[in-house]
Amino acid sequence: MKPVRKVIIPVAGHGTRVLPATKSIPKELLPLVDRPLIDYVVREAFDAGIEHVILVTGRGKGAIEDYFDHAFELETGLEAKNKSDILARVRKSIPKAGSISYTRQQAPLGLGHAVWCARDIIGDEPFAVSLPDVVIDGAPSALAQMVGEYEKTGGNIIAVEEVPIEDTNKYGVVAAKAERAGRSFEISAMVEKPDPAKAPSNLAITGRYILQPEIFGLLEKTARGAGGEIQLTDAMDALMAQQAFYAYEYEGVSHDCGSTLGWLTANAALALNNPELGAAYKEFLKSRL
Ligand code: G1P
Repeated sequence: MKPVRKVIIPVAGHGTRVLPATKSIPKELLPLVDRPLIDYVVREAFDAGIEHVILVTGRGKGAIEDYFDHAFELETGLEAKNKSDILARVRKSIPKAGSISYTRQQAPLGLGHAVWCARDIIGDEPFAVSLPDVVIDGAPSALAQMVGEYEKTGGNIIAVEEVPIEDTNKYGVVAAKAERAGRSFEISAMVEKPDPAKAPSNLAITGRYILQPEIFGLLEKTARGAGGEIQLTDAMDALMAQQAFYAYEYEGVSHDCGSTLGWLTANAALALNNPELGAAYKEFLKSRL
């Protein structure tokens, strides 16, 4: 079985739900405590053993590339002022040379199309997909849990969590093949953003995937689906006819940072756990509640 070495992270979206905050900066650079959102999902991938990160980017997203590169004047200035702790924080997020690639999604045709744009960089091997809006607070991380699971089961794995049934039209939703026992189970169907009345369950796809490269051929043929976009869920549903597909209910708490409330809860949860800021932040919250 080939290992999961690469991850695709789509970053071309406009962040419509959090405008105007994202009018002139990519939503992936919104801060989460002391680092931008994208830093969390990239670090999660490298910490899970991924060797190569592929960002599917778009117009107006150049600042993301700068974030993962050296900033010569900044670093030289910090060095000259002996600000070695800040310098170390700045440098910590710069990946090893050659371990991050960028390709552009030239038109906003949906998540399935964004993933397809990275097909040549992935080649013929299994890969992960991580959506940067979805920040998952968990130790080990959700992706690390899934990579561990993949080493046991192979096939395709998608992270899921239970959501209120009235929210199914915001997510991809899966149906379990049999009675669920444990965190990992086989899937019999999946559908993108179903009406609650038609949803096969309340198990929502939560922004982390491990997929086989055969998905690319199917994505190429996938017609526009929910919202008029080429949906990854539709191609995965087609791949399920050929290969094993598992849902994995990860251990952790997800925050949808593509919404203002989700971004706020992520900041609060992470700030409370931050060793430097947590105690003072908690005091502040207590004084306000
Ligand atoms: C995407 C996926 C959906 C998944 C969701 C998780 O939707 O298409 O299946 O449940 O991410 O956040 P989006 O939020 O991009 O509309």
